[in-house]
Amino acid sequence: MGQLDGKIAVVTGAGSGIGLAVAERYGAEGAEVVLVGRQKERLDEAAARIGGGARGVSVDVGEEEQVRLLIEDLPRVDILSTFAGKAVFGAIDEVPPSAWKDLFHSRFFGQISAIHYAVPKMSEGSAIILCSGIADKAYVPDYAGGAAIAGAVNAMTKSLAVELAPRSIRVNALSPGFIIGTDIKFNLDGDKAIDFVKRSIASTPLPYHGHPTDLADAAMFLATSNFVTGQVIEVDGGWTAT
Ligand SMILES: NC(=O)c1ccc[n+]([C@@H]2O[C@H](COP(=O)([O-])OP(=O)(O)OC[C@H]3O[C@@H](n4cnc5c(N)ncnc54)[C@H](OP(=O)(O)O)[C@@H]3O)[C@@H](O)[C@H]2O)c1
Repeated sequence: MGQLDGKIAVVTGAGSGIGLAVAERYGAEGAEVVLVGRQKERLDEAAARIGGGARGVSVDVGEEEQVRLLIEDLPRVDILSTFAGKAVFGAIDEVPPSAWKDLFHSRFFGQISAIHYAVPKMSEGSAIILCSGIADKAYVPDYAGGAAIAGAVNAMTKSLAVELAPRSIRVNALSPGFIIGTDIKFNLDGDKAIDFVKRSIASTPLPYHGHPTDLADAAMFLATSNFVTGQVIEVDGGWTAT
């Protein structure tokens, strides 16, 4: 018997990386998983592997109407986990403001849209697990927009945890440090990409890398714990402890 038997879990960004690992873990624990992303084929492949009623749904989380239709189609939502996103690096006078807006559109407002439409379908005992990042607590060079999103998600996590507590819905966030083995898209290449990876490894006290399964472990904890809400769990190998 799985810990999530009978639960419906919506996971955004489930086509690869952290979201995929979380979807696989929820499925292995018996949840009926709805895998959300833009590339339907890989969502369908993952859903077929996971089984147990898992299905892929092609949705751009930055498009509110698509998110509304996704949730409308579900009888209820027991677990909502939002990992859809990408990263934009660059100095403030280099990155055009439109790039920050675009980043916020999917990575921040995508999470808001999912929560907005899912909450009415959540009953007592449901869990929301958001995704932020360490950049609001630790300096990551040329990443002001990412830091802003991390801070915004973390602040929203605490506020929503209190707002939704009377309905016994828990809200927490996972804050990844440097996680390898994902498809994360960022606007760095060549030496800049190599420098970023070197700096991130040097900033991580633990002498090994973080993997999507490390986030899946933490997501599973947050999905099943009864009394944890309003928390941001740094899954960062100690980066924010330095
Ligand atoms: N890896 C890290 O070190 C790290 C650190 C801090 C924070 N994060 C955050 O963690 C989350 C997961 O990242 P990851 O590293 O696992 O990267 P990933 O493998 O690229 O996963 C992100 C997923 O989000 C989906 N996605 C992107 N934009 C979307 C949109 N508008 N609508 C729907 N789906 C969308 C992508 O699939 P499609 O392209 O098919 O839509 C992709 O499968 C992201 O928000 C990322 O910013 C990652």
